[in-house]
Amino acid sequence: MRTTVEAYSLRNAAALVQESSTKRGNLSVQSGKISAGKAAGPEIDLGGSSFLYPALINIHDHFRGNYVPQVGPNGNAFYINWSPWDNDLKASPVYKERANITVEQMYFLSSYKNLFSGVATANDHFPHEINEPFLPRLPIRVIGEYTLAHECSSFDLKWGDGIEIEHKRAVERNWPFITHLEEGFDPESQDGIGILERLGCLDGHDVFIHCIGFSDEDIAKTAKAGASISWCPASNMLMFNVTCKIRKFLEAGVNVCLGTDSTHTGSANLLSEMKFARKVFRDMYGTELPAKTLYRMVTANPAKAFRMQDRTGSLDTGKSADLLVLKAIHDDPYEALAKAEPSDIRLLTLEGVPLLVEEALAEPFRELLAKGYETVKVGGRKVHVRGTPASLYRDVRKAIGFDKKLDYLPFEP
Ligand SMILES: [Fe+2]
Repeated sequence: MRTTVEAYSLRNAAALVQESSTKRGNLSVQSGKISAGKAAGPEIDLGGSSFLYPALINIHDHFRGNYVPQVGPNGNAFYINWSPWDNDLKASPVYKERANITVEQMYFLSSYKNLFSGVATANDHFPHEINEPFLPRLPIRVIGEYTLAHECSSFDLKWGDGIEIEHKRAVERNWPFITHLEEGFDPESQDGIGILERLGCLDGHDVFIHCIGFSDEDIAKTAKAGASISWCPASNMLMFNVTCKIRKFLEAGVNVCLGTDSTHTGSANLLSEMKFARKVFRDMYGTELPAKTLYRMVTANPAKAFRMQDRTGSLDTGKSADLLVLKAIHDDPYEALAKAEPSDIRLLTLEGVPLLVEEALAEPFRELLAKGYETVKVGGRKVHVRGTPASLYRDVRKAIGFDKKLDYLPFEP
C-alpha cells in the first residue's frame, strides 16, 4: 500500500533518536523508505518540540487473547508453570464473555492495542493456520515470516509441525523460531535449553519467551548461541511472582527484547510494559534500568530477533519508513519514550503511511485520510487512525451487551 503522498519530510525534530546519536534534525520519506537528502514533497514541521524514533516493535503478543481483565492465580499460591493458568483462563467468566467477540474482531482489537502504543510491527504467537486469514488485512505489520513451537515440553500445546521441523524451516528461510521457554519451575520446564540443545536446535534463529526458569548456565548457552529473548515482566509477576534474571541476561550480552504477552496476563500495551519493566528492575536490583537499554528492547533488538534489521528498527537511510513521533515530555529522548503515554503520540507510520496522525500534522495526508481512516480523540486531541477503530469498539460493545472498557483503546467510540 502506498500513501498518496509519495514523498514528504519531517522537519525540525528536537532529536532523531538513534542508538549512536540523538541529533536535532530532519528526515525524508520517499516511496515508503527513509531517504537521504531532501524529499520533493510537503514538509511537516515538528516545531522542535517532538522526538522522532523508529516505530516500536512488540516481540511477543497473542492476538486472540487481548481481552481484559487479567486472569491469575488465587491468593498467594502462584503457578508452577503455564498449564494451570490455561485451565483457569478457560474456566473464567472473562473467557466466557470474550466468546461473544469473533476471532476477527479480536485480531483487529489487538492491532489497535499495539498501534495506540506506537507499535508498527508485532508477532502474534499462534500457529499460521489461525492468523493467516487476518494478517494481511490488519492495520499494523504482524509478521508472517516465523516458525514456532508453543513450548518445548511433553505437555505443550503442539503448535506447528514439531520443534525440529519448525527450527529447520527457520534456518532454511532465515526466519526466527519462536517459542515460550522455561515458563515454569517443574523439572521439565526447567530443562528447556537442554531439550533444544539435545535436538540440535539451539542457535541464533531462536527467540525464547519468558525464560524464568533459566539457570546461569542456560543464560550463558543462550548468549553463546546468539539467541534472543522476550522479557515479559508483567505477565511473569502476575502468574509466578518472579521474572527472569534480567540483569544477568543483559550482562551476558543476550539480545533482550520486551514483549507484552496478551492482556490476559500482561500489561495493557507496550508503553505500560516499559514502565512495568523499569519498576520490576528497580525492585529487583535497587538501580534504574537505563532508558536507552529499554529503547533498544523495543526497536533494534526485536528487529534483529525477527531477522528484519535490514528493514526496520532504526532510522537508517534505505529502511522502511516505520516512524514514531512523540511529544518531547522529557529532555532526554530515551526517558521521554520510557515515560510516554498514548496521548503523547503525534505520528506513527508504517512504510511511510500514517497509522495514526494527530490533526495538527495531518495536512499533507488529507486526501489519504478521507478514505480508510477514522477520527477519534486521544488525550483531548483529534487523531486520525487507519482502519475503523471506533466502529470496531462500538461493534464489540454491542456484541458483549454493555459498554466494556478496553484499557488499551485510549478513546471513547
Ligand atoms: Fe505468551
